[in-house]
Amino acid sequence: MNATHKDLKKVIKIIEQLDGPRVKKDKWRLGLHLMPPVGWLNDPNGLCYFKGKYHVFFQYSPFDPKGGIKVWGHYTSPNLVDWTYKGTPLLADQAEDCHGVYSGSTFVEDDKAYIYYTGNVKRLGDFDYDYIGREANTILVETQDMKYFEPKQCIMTNKDYTEKISCHVRDPKVWKEGDTYYMVQGARTKEDRGQVLVFESKDKKKWKLINEITSEERFGYMWECPDLFKVDGITILSISPQGIERQEFEFWNVYQSGYYVIDGDFRSTYSLNNFCELDRGFDFYASQTFQDEKGRRILIGWMGLPDCEPEYHNPTVEKGWQHCLTIPRELHFKEGKLYQNPVKEIESLRKQCIINNIKGEEALSAYSLSEVIVTDINSEGGLSLIINEDVSLTFDTADETFTLEFLNATGAGRTKRIVRLKKLRSLRVFCDYSALEIFINDGQEVFATRYYPKQRKNSIKVTCCKATVAVWELGEMKY
Ligand code: FRU
Repeated sequence: MNATHKDLKKVIKIIEQLDGPRVKKDKWRLGLHLMPPVGWLNDPNGLCYFKGKYHVFFQYSPFDPKGGIKVWGHYTSPNLVDWTYKGTPLLADQAEDCHGVYSGSTFVEDDKAYIYYTGNVKRLGDFDYDYIGREANTILVETQDMKYFEPKQCIMTNKDYTEKISCHVRDPKVWKEGDTYYMVQGARTKEDRGQVLVFESKDKKKWKLINEITSEERFGYMWECPDLFKVDGITILSISPQGIERQEFEFWNVYQSGYYVIDGDFRSTYSLNNFCELDRGFDFYASQTFQDEKGRRILIGWMGLPDCEPEYHNPTVEKGWQHCLTIPRELHFKEGKLYQNPVKEIESLRKQCIINNIKGEEALSAYSLSEVIVTDINSEGGLSLIINEDVSLTFDTADETFTLEFLNATGAGRTKRIVRLKKLRSLRVFCDYSALEIFINDGQEVFATRYYPKQRKNSIKVTCCKATVAVWELGEMKY
């Protein structure tokens, strides 16, 4: 631990001690979603299961709820619901990462964890940061216990990428196949096209660029946070592209997050098929996956987006914090697409349940923290579920659409999001103190959104020809 590291750590501890109590008291502090102790949170990083524990790191700026220099915050859990905050192991304390410990991943092998991330450096002066004024260093940190972290090793710098690439290269994700290690990084070419760089290595330290993956037609100017993984035998490339034009019901957020199915070989000749958005809500970006000891492929996303002001202003900024992560979602590939469902462990938060049989219109009272499950749906005339007269979820049979809409200011400036949906078989809604996560048809579509209700008590109005609505009271996650 060098002197800068120690000093920075001390400063962060002081800020957390000073601002933490105020954040803890906030009525919008979340019960089902991980959020920062104070200040700003963005991407989930370094997700892994290691020596009996889940590790979730996150992009963290404790200094200001509106962002700033990024460090890595760290939560651990034995079961994905009881979390312990472990502080800030990776700080911007070297020449190679002095303007931010940016996003990255953890690769686990032989009792050791290898953390790869981007060391962000913005050169001082009147530079064009996209093309000449920025360094994107690939940094490796090894650890045997997630407590002591070995000295940082800078293993690649901009000159190790390719001539064709601008200064924007970041977010290494590492995995192994056979006896070879692979890494993908997100990039922006000098012609302003988003793409993914693929590297290989035999020793986890020396990396060679072996492929550049991009779409046939230009798809945005930058691809952030790539992840390449297999689910049920299918190879998926997920990315967070920037610069995509809004279409009928797609790509309405400022930046996107979604995936391609890769046909062929990502190392050589491949084709990318049909980019599909992972989430249809207002708040989802920069997701990452990992495989746990049970073999599950689990995804966590940042439940937030950059660059949304002034249209959207998150009112928790005034309370000293901003943003959260999604509930961990288990992935499967069915009927040509990824299905996402909350990990089973979340059910351990269930306390009591009321089951309602709906015929027509029914007003139900729900708990302040609740999970609402709608099944046995006869949606001949459609279905509507209204939460606290603030948010409506509507399935329109004629239009074959499902809409999430804010009916008043509790959306903090946002209005509606829509997805095409032929049939509504089930709906599962997690109502947190300032977030909703909505799973449709067992994870076929998901909407994640922040929501700022006036009170903590929930009421629900359901209108449908026939349906069964189970309303669960949930306990809070520990963190
Ligand atoms: C995505 C992102 C990453 C970067 C990190 C910086 O939200 O821009 O590309 O590494 O955030 O915080």
